[in-house]
Amino acid sequence: MEQVSLRINGVTVVAQAGTSILKAASEHGIRIPTLCHHPHLEPAGACRLCIVEDEKSGRIMASCVTPVASGMAVQTNTQDLQRHRANILRLMMANHPESCIVCNKGNRCELRLLAAELGIGAYGLYRMPHYTKLEEANPFIVRDLTKCIVCGKCIRADHELVAVGAIDYNHRGLRSRPATALEKPLEKSSCTFCGTCVSMCPTGALMTRNRHYAGTPQKESPTLCGFCGVGCSLVIGSTDGRVVDVNPSHSDHTVNRSTLCVRGHFAHDFLNASERLTSPLIRKENGLEKATWEEALEYVARKLLSLKAEEGPQSIAFLGSSKCTLEENYLFQKIARVILMTNHVDNGGALSGRAAQRRLEERLGGTGRVKPLSDLEKAEVILVLGSDPTQSAPVLGYHLRRASRKNGIPVIVADPRRTELVPFASLWLPLRPNSDSELIHGIAQILMKRGRYDRDFVSRFTTGIEEYERSLSFLDLERACEVTGLDVKVMEKAAGLLAGKRITFVMGHGVFLQPHGSQVVDGAVNLALMTGSVGNETSGFYRICRENNGAGAWDMGTVPHALPGRQPVAEGLVRKHWERAWHTPLSPDPGLDLFGMITEAERGNLKALYVMGENPVRALPGSLRVGNALKNLDLLVVQDILETETTRLAHVVLPGAPFSEKAGAFTNMEGRIQSFEPALPPPGEAKADWEILDFLAGKMGRKEPYGSIEHIRYEISSLVPGYADLARSRGTAWVQEKGEAKLFNPEGAGSLLSFTPYSPILLEGPDKDYPYQAILGSPRCHLGSGTRTSRSARIREYAFDGKVEMSFQDGRSLGIQEGDGVRISSAHGTIQRRAALSTGVGSGLVYVPRAVDGNSAASLIPLVLKGGADREGMNVVAVKIEKGSLS
Ligand code: SF4
Ligand code: SF4
Ligand code: SF4
Ligand code: FES
Repeated sequence: MEQVSLRINGVTVVAQAGTSILKAASEHGIRIPTLCHHPHLEPAGACRLCIVEDEKSGRIMASCVTPVASGMAVQTNTQDLQRHRANILRLMMANHPESCIVCNKGNRCELRLLAAELGIGAYGLYRMPHYTKLEEANPFIVRDLTKCIVCGKCIRADHELVAVGAIDYNHRGLRSRPATALEKPLEKSSCTFCGTCVSMCPTGALMTRNRHYAGTPQKESPTLCGFCGVGCSLVIGSTDGRVVDVNPSHSDHTVNRSTLCVRGHFAHDFLNASERLTSPLIRKENGLEKATWEEALEYVARKLLSLKAEEGPQSIAFLGSSKCTLEENYLFQKIARVILMTNHVDNGGALSGRAAQRRLEERLGGTGRVKPLSDLEKAEVILVLGSDPTQSAPVLGYHLRRASRKNGIPVIVADPRRTELVPFASLWLPLRPNSDSELIHGIAQILMKRGRYDRDFVSRFTTGIEEYERSLSFLDLERACEVTGLDVKVMEKAAGLLAGKRITFVMGHGVFLQPHGSQVVDGAVNLALMTGSVGNETSGFYRICRENNGAGAWDMGTVPHALPGRQPVAEGLVRKHWERAWHTPLSPDPGLDLFGMITEAERGNLKALYVMGENPVRALPGSLRVGNALKNLDLLVVQDILETETTRLAHVVLPGAPFSEKAGAFTNMEGRIQSFEPALPPPGEAKADWEILDFLAGKMGRKEPYGSIEHIRYEISSLVPGYADLARSRGTAWVQEKGEAKLFNPEGAGSLLSFTPYSPILLEGPDKDYPYQAILGSPRCHLGSGTRTSRSARIREYAFDGKVEMSFQDGRSLGIQEGDGVRISSAHGTIQRRAALSTGVGSGLVYVPRAVDGNSAASLIPLVLKGGADREGMNVVAVKIEKGSLS
């Protein structure tokens, strides 16, 4: 990069050619006032506060939009400049309402701060505020555009960062303001309520809506988002121990930089919910009663140890949490395996489709997991399978939209439904539900026949291509088109877009939860090997993780099949290693997963279940049956932060603390390990979950307590591959960008990656009793079962009623109109929702959002408790639909 030398305020500085004067000055510690500038937005030159003066010509220019030039000499703070800046500010203030005292932006308003810095009190101009109507109908954002200084940051954030395009300038001159199309209220526009514009706004024109006046938070603490596996960084603002504001951290070295989604920005008010658990409870004659920590933990320890002695270790199970920290999950599974000697350990990630994810691990030898999300914007071509990241992992969705809009990267979306990503796609493949395997192998066959694959990569780094080619010769493309419902020309077009390119795969629960998920993974890995799409920046695999520590809970061994470091518990040598590390023999017995735990509780074989941070009664299908199974237990301990459907059945309830009230670390879907510190204290007597576990272990006879999070981290660092740096992490930090499980390195690969032969799939279609197929999906404002998001006052007020989306054609034939009440029944249950007629789903399909309080789509799917490793099939179900009023 060419460097240029210039003088700023008489000091010679060197900057990269093309850099703005503002950036060059800032890099050398010289501050220039700004209002419309943000380092993550394209410069706009709108406010003119960043003016500087050219020493030679006396020319005044906006430093944010003027590039440095060799030999340039500028002054940034002459008297003239100060006068100009003060005049600009005075004009802005004359256009501003006099409501600073009651403005929620309080002492954070950049306009006020700058006015104070420049010594402007009375501005001495005729007041000319342009009053606009206050908008506060939605529960998330208040718009008081009378306070707008037309800096355009909100519009640029909306266009450049989240690529939604909900707002733009309306009118011209003094009347110009950011507005939605046709000036509709935000809730009637395409706005997703991500709040990115709100956190950019320098004044009180855009504000987070709070029920009560919040003003400037007393404290602002950096931490991580408590929801999905993207792992966004954020800053929690709190007053009197309550969360009053959340903003992105605006830091360069984060997954989300200056963005968040509606959950991250606005749903963390669930932390203030009245349902928070604040003291330990023990079930007595009259129900759950308050107890001391001593009483509760004594009770749990005594009961667990006596059940172990009387019924054996196999009668006890531990359900950990993909929302709890690495340290807590490590301790949790260690207590189960070492003190209670049971391998019945799992976490809520079991509901995210484990068989297909394990298959992906096996096929890539564990080398496909660590990949920064920002690489999506460097991809050659992106294939999105079974996932709608705009809803499930919105910040990943922003990367995809920017990849398409900004960088022109072709995106292919294979989804039965027209998702919000489809307008950004080069090609939408509206395939039949669960037919992805035929699609991928069909594309592979076309590429193979045309010789459009990377022969060099295949011959150097893979094995089994001949067998795969032979198996593909049995694939009948016409049949594949019939199964997928796609035209052969469409498949050829998809193959054409992929030919000669390395592919980036984005896969979600539509793949992992389908009955043929492992075959889809096999097809995708085969396609990746054919095209050399492993081991480089411009291709690879992203799997969407529902919870923020889904990957970490697995890494820490809170799964039945693996010890920490994803090491198989069934392997004698692995067990020996951990027996030496933990100074104790380990059970070789296979562990039960979450589904197995419920089966065995139902049968009366499981006597005790310790649940940490999960709500299986709500999250699993068949809540009545799950509840009855749990009622069979001699001991149900639930350690959680909120009162839930599961805590209500517990014998003992232990109040834990969420991420915001404790220190810990999470591993996100990229494999990035991030640590954090508490932002707030836990309410009442609630404690960090690791502390509860540490006390409990002491009560069960472990001599040395850890006593601090650092001691647990030290043990993880020394024993768990990939986590060596965890012990060194302090405060809020990005501990490790890439674990030891690095990307597949073709040059240094120790073993070859294998192709797997194609085998055709048989799709179960709808039948005459249940003639429609319901696709179950996660709406953006909720996560998983909605246990936490439905406790958010804002999300509740949003009145998300989870409308069922169906085609106009089906609506007509069933006599259903927009907004009508409908009853959707499967062989397993019935729910009632309102209908939304749409062109987004084809005839015969309906889309049912999950997580509606008291009316969950989970009741439509069967609770399959027995069967092989592939218990999946929780994404699509055959249903019938009837018009009916809502009860
Ligand atoms: S909240 Fe998000 S989507 Fe809505 S206008 Fe602001 S940036 Fe755009
Ligand atoms: S609403 Fe805020 S961010 Fe948007 S243009 Fe006005 S002052 Fe700037
Ligand atoms: S994308 Fe996920 S991690 Fe990021 S703010 Fe939204 S819910 Fe939180
Ligand atoms: S910061 Fe440069 S014009 Fe606003």
